[in-house]
Amino acid sequence: MAERYDNDWANLYGSSRRVAIEQIDQHRHRTRGGLSVVDLGIGTGNAIADLQGQVDLGQCTGFDVSPGMLSQAAQKLGPAVELINADAHDASAHLPPTSQDLVLCHFVLGFGDGGHLLEQAFRLLRPGGYLSLATTTRRSFAELYEGRFERYANWIGVKKSLDRLSNPIDHADCRRLLQQHGFDILADRDYRQPVCFRSLRDVRGWALDSGWVVNGEDKHFGLRVAGAWTLIALAMVFLRPLFPVHATCEMSIVLAQKPVAQPSRQFSPQRSSGSDSARKSVAG
Ligand SMILES: C[S@@+](CC[C@H](N)C(=O)[O-])C[C@H]1O[C@@H](n2cnc3c(N)ncnc32)[C@H](O)[C@@H]1O
Repeated sequence: MAERYDNDWANLYGSSRRVAIEQIDQHRHRTRGGLSVVDLGIGTGNAIADLQGQVDLGQCTGFDVSPGMLSQAAQKLGPAVELINADAHDASAHLPPTSQDLVLCHFVLGFGDGGHLLEQAFRLLRPGGYLSLATTTRRSFAELYEGRFERYANWIGVKKSLDRLSNPIDHADCRRLLQQHGFDILADRDYRQPVCFRSLRDVRGWALDSGWVVNGEDKHFGLRVAGAWTLIALAMVFLRPLFPVHATCEMSIVLAQKPVAQPSRQFSPQRSSGSDSARKSVAG
């Protein structure tokens, strides 16, 4: 997936990243120069690459569990960015507390324990530091597994894969989750991008290549898609055409801030959608 990730089917990552970076840009006058940045789940390094062109960056660090993604990031970003092959849930074991001006958490919240990731972000940020969060919500792409697609989607496992994500239910849930973890919200966008799946090839590009449903751990997904492709190709001859499918990618894009004066209470993982206890995910 790492080699094809930047194909970015339907430009979903690119367009949402633009919104996130605009939010950061609008608040950059509140920061001093040489922003220290950590990216939790850096992927191929696109967010830091985009920031490099706009913001004066200091020490930058990226975590990722995928060596393939890190290798793409290394080619893109060069040696100026420290890349760490480790679980972002342990990020504070690698960096000093309150050392960061900006934490990026883009499309990684749902991979494990979202609440734990936010705790890591909170610990690493200096008081007044920023968290840029981008995530899909659980309502995303519902058109792919409801209605006329339900049977095929169940068989391929699209719904099962999406359900493994511990993403927030919706934008309001995402805001709530951030506030529960002590963040103030500076800017937020309930961002919806319509997409059109014209064929199973599009489903495959979205799910496999761009990592919206699997990130390589589900080794059988590709096989199931191939099987479904054959069945659907036959079905399309005899049954009414299933495509195109118009769907909506529902995302929550938020710039939050660690308060300068911290409340005295301790943050413990909240039992809400995004902070479900770690669900091992194969999905993106
Ligand atoms: C959908 S991609 C997002 C990449 C990047 N943040 C972006 O917006 O383009 C998710 C990335 O998170 C990484 N990832 C998943 N779980 C992780 C974890 N627990 N710790 C670190 N990285 C993780 C994956 O390997 C993948 O590179």
